[in-house]
Amino acid sequence: MSSQPPPQVPRPGPIRATLIPGDGIGPEVTEACVRVLDAAGVSIAWERVEAGGEVVAKYGTPVPEPALQSIRRLGLALKGPITTPVGEGFRSANVTLRQTLDLYASIRPVKSIPGLPSRFENVDLIVVRENTEGLYSGLEHRVAPGVVTSLKVVTERACQRISKSAFQLAERLGRRRVTAVHKANIMKLTDGLFLECARKVARDHPEVAYDEIIIDNCAMQLVRDPSRFDVLLLENLYGDILSDLCAGLVGGLGVVPGSNVGDDCAVFEAVHGSAPDLAGKRLANPTAVILSAVELLRHVGETTSAARIEAAIHACLADPASRTGDLGGPLGLDAFTDAVIARLA
Ligand code: NAI
Repeated sequence: MSSQPPPQVPRPGPIRATLIPGDGIGPEVTEACVRVLDAAGVSIAWERVEAGGEVVAKYGTPVPEPALQSIRRLGLALKGPITTPVGEGFRSANVTLRQTLDLYASIRPVKSIPGLPSRFENVDLIVVRENTEGLYSGLEHRVAPGVVTSLKVVTERACQRISKSAFQLAERLGRRRVTAVHKANIMKLTDGLFLECARKVARDHPEVAYDEIIIDNCAMQLVRDPSRFDVLLLENLYGDILSDLCAGLVGGLGVVPGSNVGDDCAVFEAVHGSAPDLAGKRLANPTAVILSAVELLRHVGETTSAARIEAAIHACLADPASRTGDLGGPLGLDAFTDAVIARLA
């Protein structure tokens, strides 16, 4: 689900895209996804590049220059999850990638999957998250022994462009309302500026309703009745947390796709992380990555292939016998991938 309209011009050759397998379950789930795309007859020329914790020793960074150059050149990528060490070690490869390529809009459609039992059956919302600043700016300091700070950086430019992304997306998809999620009662300047920009952009889009909600209340309302929300507009940290919460409303992290979109490039990836507890066991659910590839196809205007693959996934998930373990089913990664391929019409 990109914030940009799909191109109208017919493509002369295959889709050209960068592929970052990632680490943990990343290589397994991206490989499964490539198998499904191949079986669906989608013509994609992948440029495989390395990124992640395992390449730090080789390149001195988890996001090596060849990976960045490939995405800049092709403008399109599918990415597996990348592990980030907790409390120490290198800076998050994901944050670095999003900031370096200025992939400022994280767009995560969260929709109930027909036939898949989950907490709610009527969820259909889109999380639009600012992806480049806020508390993810990486500006942390030790000011005295036992005292540390982290700077929340908020700029008018970033708030305006993410607000525009949310409203343009709402308009393009015929959505009825954008809700800005904030904590401006406490963070009056930073979240205050976020709201000020959202309100300004809302005035330019009178056909889309606009409202605001404080984040703690929003979390509570989401778990009570997610159907009251449509497009959620959030700064970086709130968007990160609430998108996992939203995934939990429709079946969990294994089934929710995402994209990181800038003016020049788009990187598609699942909401979930590298799931170290499942890595190498071939038990992970590849649905989220496959649905991210479906969004990639829509982004480049390949709507027929996108619909075919999505329908095959939905047909699998509707049958309890063809679900993966995270959804209570009996299948591992490979058997599930085979089941999806068998259901491609
Ligand atoms: P996680 O999303 O990797 O896992 C959370 C839980 O969900 C685990 O129980 C895991 O087994 C399960 N899970 C996740 N994906 C699944 C799938 N496809 N199929 C079945 N079950 C699945 O989150 P966690 O454990 O907090 O983070 C692990 C690592 O991933 C960390 O290093 C974190 O920084 C990184 N991460 C990377 C992201 C990215 O590359 N975009 C996003 C989120 C986290």
